[in-house]
Amino acid sequence: MTQPQASVPEQDIAEARRVLGRRNLVFVGLMGAGKSAIGRLVAQMLDIPFVDSDHEIERVSRMSIPELFEAYGEPEFRALEARVIKRLLKTGPRVLSTGGGAFMNDASRTMMLANGLSVWLKADLDVLWTRVSKRETRPLLKTVNPRQTLSDLLDQRYPVYAQADLTVQSRDEAKETIAAEAIAAIARFITDQEKASPS
Ligand code: S3P
Repeated sequence: MTQPQASVPEQDIAEARRVLGRRNLVFVGLMGAGKSAIGRLVAQMLDIPFVDSDHEIERVSRMSIPELFEAYGEPEFRALEARVIKRLLKTGPRVLSTGGGAFMNDASRTMMLANGLSVWLKADLDVLWTRVSKRETRPLLKTVNPRQTLSDLLDQRYPVYAQADLTVQSRDEAKETIAAEAIAAIARFITDQEKASPS
């Protein structure tokens, strides 16, 4: 088994844990950015619990995401997503990976910004498309031209994702590398409290 922890300096891990305190770490970004894979790895490296909002939605509804979209439509899915995220944010610290649309919902985004440290996993269209085109599980991409749809979502959503506390570039690299960069970015994050009273 690989030991990804080995590549992350102990000091970064300790500092990232200190920065988080009791707060949650929330990963946001478009489909295919690697929110679940990176989130899970970061949680493992920081030794805090991991939860994925899409999995939690599927668990409580006992339906898959495509089934939920099919049966109830996107607005109902968004309402359920917002309720699940609200509940998941109540206890921390943990790492929460969210579905790509979650941060676009005003109520959910406000909660995430207030109750967690948010990390936008930003990726280029080509990287995202290479990843998402391998699977047909995304209801929003069941269109005539899914690559164009993804590109349109990128245009609409990137200005909103930019409100996240931190941005980490996701790219065609080992997930251990991106996870280590996320931890380093968290470790360097200056909390509002620290800004208010610099030592
Ligand atoms: C969505 C992204 C999906 C899932 C749903 C809607 C979106 O999650 O929540 O299909 O609106 O971007 P991933 O980002 O994990 O693919």
